[in-house]
Amino acid sequence: MKHIDILIIGAGISGAVLAERYANIGKKVLVIEKRNHIGGNCYDYIDENGILVSKYGAHLFHTNDESVWHYVNRFSDWYTWEHKEIARIDGKTVPIPVNITTVNKLFNLNLEDEAEMKNWLSQNRTPIVNPSNGEEAILNRVGTVLYEKIFKNYIKKQWNKYPAEMDITLLEKILFRTNFDDHYFSEQCQTLPDGGYTQLFENMLDHPNIEVLLNTDFFDVKNQYKNYEKMFYTGPIDRYFEFKNNLVEKLEYRSINFVSETIDASYFQENSVVNYPGTDVDFTRITEYKHFGNQKSKKTTIVKEFIVDEGEPYYPVPTQKNKEIYARYKEDAEQLTDVHFVGRLANYKYLSMDQAFKNALDLFDELENKTLLKTAV
Ligand code: FAD
Ligand code: NA
Repeated sequence: MKHIDILIIGAGISGAVLAERYANIGKKVLVIEKRNHIGGNCYDYIDENGILVSKYGAHLFHTNDESVWHYVNRFSDWYTWEHKEIARIDGKTVPIPVNITTVNKLFNLNLEDEAEMKNWLSQNRTPIVNPSNGEEAILNRVGTVLYEKIFKNYIKKQWNKYPAEMDITLLEKILFRTNFDDHYFSEQCQTLPDGGYTQLFENMLDHPNIEVLLNTDFFDVKNQYKNYEKMFYTGPIDRYFEFKNNLVEKLEYRSINFVSETIDASYFQENSVVNYPGTDVDFTRITEYKHFGNQKSKKTTIVKEFIVDEGEPYYPVPTQKNKEIYARYKEDAEQLTDVHFVGRLANYKYLSMDQAFKNALDLFDELENKTLLKTAV
């Protein structure tokens, strides 16, 4: 068997960053990926309509972190994309995150500025001083009327939990604006890679020291790979320990069923992403990929997202119970000094792409005690 210094499980952002970093300091790297492609959840491809489609849902890059921005620019050119989303609610089309326009349209109002918005809010909101659960946190933030009309059903659809069961810190941060800003993100840098994400990953992994083994589940081959200096595991943490901590419990995830359709028309909807927070339909949103980068094609591809319990793990479910289960797996993980648990699934935490880049870059720097600048080529 070939000599390996660094064994990496998973070819998503976390795995690709560590592979690239270690290859560049002369280490022999093997990346094992169970899917038939690199890129993890960022993977995209050109579909039968000639449109660049993301297999696991639209991926919008947004960051305020200069070191991440500098790093990703080494592997792709990027174009500015200031993402906006709309929602269909009660037959109306409104911008989201909720802002003054959303409230005006939904409730037939004519609020003209932030002061009027805050005044409307105060009339519809009973402040809760120390919210004791997720429902109280969100009610405290947006008030009863908006909660009932938008957030309650949406949260139930997204998490299959009512807010009262959910982690308070997540709902305290739920996107909501008292001005007219209708941008989906607030970071300074909002952008998409010119040639798509898969190309970016190909460029990251294109190094003579890196070998990628696709279609291979690490747990089927792990006995073949024992002699390595370090291992980075980016899969689900509970799977690593065979779902056994001292209480034997599996972590909960939400999955998504992506259903794509070709529509024989130049466009299907007026915006890249349209959300459906209500209970009138089962899907949560429809993405029309053609809008990203104004792609040209005779037909158009749309993808409906249905959130489900079973399937690929996408979203950790932020409840107190899951937090506690995770904490016990984390203790087990910390005992293993030559295995590092990196990324979204291994840390049981939603990470945006820039955070995933940042965490992996920081881990490399911490372990190798080098700065990005010193090792940059
Ligand atoms: P992953 O991309 O999940 O990579 C882990 C890899 O490990 C996977 O390829 C998996 O197949 C592999 N693996 C797991 N177990 C094994 C095993 N046993 N053997 C071999 N391989 C294994 N972020 C944004 O910034 N903007 C967005 O708009 C955005 N949209 C998103 C939409 C959705 C639907 C989802 C789910 C996420 C979105 N994200 C977005 C987050 C983004 O996808 C993550 O930040 C990023 O994918 C994290 O990278 P990762 O390497 O940690 O994990
Ligand atoms: Na460890």
